[in-house]
Amino acid sequence: MQLLGKEVSEKIKHQLSVKVQTLKNKKYRSPHLSAILIGNNGASETYVASKIKNCEEIGIKSSLIRYDNNVSENELLSKIEELNKDETVDGILVQLPLPKHISEQKVIEAIHPLKDVDGFHPENIGKLTQGNPTFISATPYGIILLLEHYKIDIKGKHVVVIGRSNIVGRPISILLSSNATYGNATVTLCHSQTKNLKEICLQADILVAAIGIPGFIKANMVKDGAVIIDVGITRVEDASAKSGFRLKGDVDFDDVSPKASYITPVPGGVGLMTIAALLTNTMKAYLLRNNLTEDIFAE
Ligand code: GUN
Repeated sequence: MQLLGKEVSEKIKHQLSVKVQTLKNKKYRSPHLSAILIGNNGASETYVASKIKNCEEIGIKSSLIRYDNNVSENELLSKIEELNKDETVDGILVQLPLPKHISEQKVIEAIHPLKDVDGFHPENIGKLTQGNPTFISATPYGIILLLEHYKIDIKGKHVVVIGRSNIVGRPISILLSSNATYGNATVTLCHSQTKNLKEICLQADILVAAIGIPGFIKANMVKDGAVIIDVGITRVEDASAKSGFRLKGDVDFDDVSPKASYITPVPGGVGLMTIAALLTNTMKAYLLRNNLTEDIFAE
């Protein structure tokens, strides 16, 4: 069975749009996400455009700030400082990767932790690691929302995560192993230096592939009945597609899906959930910054 990120993300977006409308009816301003995009990396352009479009769809205000590739680190840091101080901005997102001359770490640390809707700031990562409430980065959060929606039990299950990035692999492994309502899994985190990867994957009840190598996971690496979460979204050339490319996951879908109990498609799986999670974080930032709680929607 497919885990349909499209359906679940639409449901989350609908619930958020009702909340935004409630805020408007009560004469509050709308939540506001500010996105910064540097250069013209094709994939980043697509992701940011999609984030902006989705904000518009549900009534969240968005602004896109663009720089060309040679923007200085200082200019970028000053813009972030300006957005930190801007009372009308709730969430700040700097699309990664950045040009080589700009320190990703400095940029991430410059964003105010209460506006860090990507959940990349060390303070927020620290809270996540200690099991405290924080902004959970969008892709891990989206995966959890998807698993929860389909009531996939992870308690005591063996989750194998492949890929140790700060954006996906590391935070999802911390979250799923934490002592939380949706946690308590036994997690193995694999990476490029892992030995016997195939044997470890074969032990997975739930396999999270976040490697960035299209079609890497084959049926012979997967246990019968496993749940497969494919985080990969690599652009591969496809002359038959209008854009000249299509998106391919880390999992060889046709090979693996007959063995899986559940599997996420690409596209239409985790990617859409990432956006739904980002929008959820933006609403959360708005409420926190305005000293409001979810009660505002129940009144
Ligand atoms: N680049 C790839 N994924 C992400 C993400 O979730 N947030 C940002 N800001 N950049 C990314």
